[in-house]
Amino acid sequence: MLETGAPGGPTTPDLTDLDLFDDGFPHEVFADLRRETPLFWHPPTEHTPDGVGFWVVTTHELAREVAADPGLYSSAAAPGQEGGGTLIEDLPVGLGPGVLLNMSDDPRHSQFRKLLTPSVLPKALRTIEDDLRSRSRSIVDDALEKGECDFVLDVAAELPLQAVSQLIGVPQEDRHRLFGWANATLDYDGRELGQATERSMQAAAEMYAYGAELLASKRESPGSDLISVVAQATIDGQPLSEFEIQMLFNLLMAAGSETTRNSITLGLLGILAHEGMWQRLAEDPSLVPGAVEEMLRFASSTPYNRRSATRTHHLGGETIAAGDKVTVWWASANRDEAVFARPDVFDPTRNPNPHLAFGRGGHFCLGAPLARLEMTLVLEALLESVERIEQTGPVEYSRSNKHSGVRRMPVRMVKRDD
Ligand code: HEM
Repeated sequence: MLETGAPGGPTTPDLTDLDLFDDGFPHEVFADLRRETPLFWHPPTEHTPDGVGFWVVTTHELAREVAADPGLYSSAAAPGQEGGGTLIEDLPVGLGPGVLLNMSDDPRHSQFRKLLTPSVLPKALRTIEDDLRSRSRSIVDDALEKGECDFVLDVAAELPLQAVSQLIGVPQEDRHRLFGWANATLDYDGRELGQATERSMQAAAEMYAYGAELLASKRESPGSDLISVVAQATIDGQPLSEFEIQMLFNLLMAAGSETTRNSITLGLLGILAHEGMWQRLAEDPSLVPGAVEEMLRFASSTPYNRRSATRTHHLGGETIAAGDKVTVWWASANRDEAVFARPDVFDPTRNPNPHLAFGRGGHFCLGAPLARLEMTLVLEALLESVERIEQTGPVEYSRSNKHSGVRRMPVRMVKRDD
């Protein structure tokens, strides 16, 4: 625990101590923070990367305010700073910040984003919807065939992985290798924030080498996939660099497979925690779109993103100095009782449901239509064929404050009578 705010102020937990996230996102901790210190300065602790503190935004209103002003809150870096990005730990400018789409500022950010948008619009997705639907049914059938399975590996991971592989042009037979690499780099299993292990470094290197080969093959014989599109594109008359395309490949592979898998799993846990909800959804398919939004809100699988203040200003009654790190906790905003009545209740009829699971503003998740489609198809396939899902062992959560997720969830799935 650490002291924050004025002397005698509330004692708040260390948000950089990953043990706090060992059993999933600590919602009760953030409920206290929203009530007592909606915006506060988190001083550095022994766990905090760079030895530098950061601001913590916990409410829906303040999260919206920060997300709405990318000029004031940079996703790359504050002027003159050598490190930045959207993680608490600084990444060197030119390595992630200023190169990765999500860690870029306008005007380059918008120009880069425009190249990718046509491939992920609902219109483009309609061409793959039937294929994804039949893939979802096969995934659920295969898992039912097994009887007992790991819901994460056998159900939740598969469609996002297959879909994103298709989107970026990765051969399906390679998808599980990429899945392993993405897992090893995103989970802080056996390491702390800002640290790498031999395993995580090796995974990153293998993924990088794979991306280089993939890019070379797309240059030789381009297809209609995203990597081919980007490899042929220009911004201000200049082609994108090899490094930029490589980083995009890493981003899409990780963002595309891991967040959706986690939202399906944590969302399902939300449903199962509410007695009778499975049956209710099965009996009334019109509830599925609302249930998917609740799964997204419940899971909030990207719990926070960071920004860097580009100038000194006031926010929520505090003075934020130029260069300060500002973290926006979407997962907390999504349980904000000022916006969501009974926020811990899974309510598929919640309307409106202005959750921020996909962020907000200029960096709003590019893959949101795809993620929503995948979640809908998987949920529909499950409701169609599965009478009930019983947990047969403990849920093992990922150890991370950046990616809420589940490593393993042993279940028994019982088939509906035809
Ligand atoms: C349920 C699943 C998903 C969740 C919860 C999620 C969450 C998010 C969030 C919170 C952001 C905003 C980051 C920020 O403001 O700094 C974001 C951005 C992004 N997401 Fe997702 N995402 C999901 C699925 C996907 C998928 C399937 C893809 C790719 C196919 C994807 C690609 C991206 C990209 C490229 C960005 C950066 C956009 C930009 O900076 O303009 N995401 N996502």
